[in-house]
Parts: sequence; C-alpha cells; structure tokens
Amino acid sequence: MLERLQKIISAAGIASRRASEELIQDGRVAVNGIVITELGSKADPACDTITVDGKPLAIASKRLYILLYKPVGYMTTLDDPEGRALVTDLLKEVGERVYPVGRLDYNTEGLLLLTNDGEWANRLMHPRHEVEKEYHVRVRGKLHKSQLDQLAGGVDIDERKTARATVRVIKDGEQNDWFSIAIHEGRNRQVRRMCEAVSLSVVRLRRVRYGTLTMGSLKPGEFRYLTDAEVRELRDPPVKKKSP
Ligand code: URA
Repeated sequence: MLERLQKIISAAGIASRRASEELIQDGRVAVNGIVITELGSKADPACDTITVDGKPLAIASKRLYILLYKPVGYMTTLDDPEGRALVTDLLKEVGERVYPVGRLDYNTEGLLLLTNDGEWANRLMHPRHEVEKEYHVRVRGKLHKSQLDQLAGGVDIDERKTARATVRVIKDGEQNDWFSIAIHEGRNRQVRRMCEAVSLSVVRLRRVRYGTLTMGSLKPGEFRYLTDAEVRELRDPPVKKKSP
C-alpha cells in the first residue's frame, strides 16, 4: 500500500514525523536507490526499499515468501478486467498482500512464488541471476529429435535467439509425448513460443522447478511458506563454477 514517505520513516522509529520531513528535504532518503527530496512523495513499504543515509529501514511488516501450486485457469495479475480467478484468491488466509514473482500464463500450472519483499523478487527476476526454471510440456503427437535439438540450441523468438536450454524426453506416450525443458531466461510465454517455433503444439505446460525449489507433495491450489534457508539460497545462490 502506498504511504507518504515521512509516515513510513517515522513508523519505523527513526525520527518524528517532522524530523522525517527534514531527512527527506536534506536528501538523505532514497527509494529503490533514487534520492527523494519532495515532501508528499509516496512509497510502498512492502515492495520498495527505503533507505536513510544508505541504511534500509527496518519495516515492521513481516516479509512473506510463498510457494503456490498454481492451477490452470488462474491469472497471475492482481486484477483482471474480465473477472477471471486470480492466484491471490487462493491465498486469502495469508492476510497480507503478496505479489507474484514473474508470471505464469492463465493456462500454465505449477510452481509460482509470491512475496511482499520487492527487493528479493526483483533480484530473482533480474536476468543476471539466471535462476533456472524447469517445465514439463505435453505436446500433441510425437516429438522428433530434431525439434528437441533445436530447442536445446536456441530458437528465434522476437527476432532474438533463446539461450541454450536443457531438454529431455520424459514420456513417450501413445498420443502425446512429454518433455522437460530447463531455461534461464524469463521472456513472455517463452516455452510456448519456443515450441511454436519448432512446430510443436503444447497441450499442457507445468512449471516443476524454480532454482532448487520443487513443488514436493503440494496439490494444485495448495501453498506453503518457504523456509529461511530457501529464501536465503534463492537470494544468494551458490556461485556456479565455470566449465573450463
Ligand atoms: N513459458 C510459457 O510459455 N508460459 C508460461 O506460463 C511460463 C513459461
């Protein structure tokens, strides 16, 4: 929720409302790294990083980190003009506003993270962090090795080649094959568009892994809170050794 900066600073116990206004006017307050000097400016303590003299405010509201098994037929946005169901409808008992980390399409199911920690979310979504996401894809008909090889090597979407992906067949069905694809990028509808580029028709798409996190025994619509160790590991993943 957006609130006046001086109110947020004084609520954090740093200074009185009046003294907080002076801190702002003196250029000692920054929101997401940008110094704010205008009184009346607003910020959202749940998602913005607010610093005074470079030190982050200790905001009282608890940071929440949630792993949800998103079912098909839910929007990842916070509202929908067409009135469709929202992932946040599944989290009413959480009692605080949380925001999805990235998106899953309406027709995609699987692992979705939500949080009220904007800095953590931005870090995960930043391309530099290259968190690996794995999807299981069911396609209409049979897969051909050449299609999987193309997906692994990169295909053109939006006139830009996708980065290398790890691809493997997981089920050779009578009518529909399943394969797994692990990607680092987070381009819009990336897996579906990669499949389109190699003439594969997607029947089902499920995200099964985000970094080291998997859904475990969660069923569609169920969620759990991440442990402190999981939150830390996603924030500061172990440094990968570069292959020679
Ligand atoms: N790729 C897609 O095409 N859709 C998703 O929801 C996620 C990844």
